[in-house]
Amino acid sequence: MKRALLFVLLAALALAVDDATMKKVIGSGGPDFAAAMQQDPSEALCSEFPQGLPADRVGGFVEAERAKVNYTQPLAGDWKRGREVFVTPAKGNCYACHAGEPGEAAFGDVGPPLTNFGLRGQGEGIVKYTYEKIYNAWITVPCSTMPRYGVNGRLTAQEISDLVAYLTSPESPINPAVKGGK
Ligand code: HEC
Repeated sequence: MKRALLFVLLAALALAVDDATMKKVIGSGGPDFAAAMQQDPSEALCSEFPQGLPADRVGGFVEAERAKVNYTQPLAGDWKRGREVFVTPAKGNCYACHAGEPGEAAFGDVGPPLTNFGLRGQGEGIVKYTYEKIYNAWITVPCSTMPRYGVNGRLTAQEISDLVAYLTSPESPINPAVKGGK
């Protein structure tokens, strides 16, 4: 009986937490926390259409996502630093979802393998594609499960350009099949 009473009390308490209280609680975490708790319009669209965006919404969505990218120069930085970002769990944590260097035993397969990504070349087009993919995965695949590393502030533009070099450079150990690679 006591337990039932406790349950009723808790339920009443939960109902008493109204919108205003919720806003206060969220606000108490500081402006950054409050911002993180807000869905941006693109996230709201992805939640509204879990099976995929309707065709007539894709154009505007992609345009809005591309506008969020801060293009640093050069777009491809230092592959050695990029390798650190790739493997570090608190940074890229890319192995959680991608295969990479052939010697790496533990990796996820949520995303496609990135081994020998450099076979696609090192031209301007592929470098820009790779930078945008990591900065904001939603430009090319709306609502992708890949994190939007630049948009959500998980990686800096510098770190993203270093990752681009790691993925595209012939010297990078992720590209053993690329001529001139290791
Ligand atoms: C939570 C899983 C997840 C994580 C973590 C993740 N990715 Fe991805 N990635 C994906 C998925 C799924 C795709 C395919 C859909 C897409 O392109 O958005 C993808 C696609 C890509 C592509 C495009 C591949 C192609 O064939 O064109 C690149 C490049 C890439 N990821 C790089 C990275 C890098 C670098 C990191 C780490 C900074 C990373 N990913 C972290 C899930 C992930």
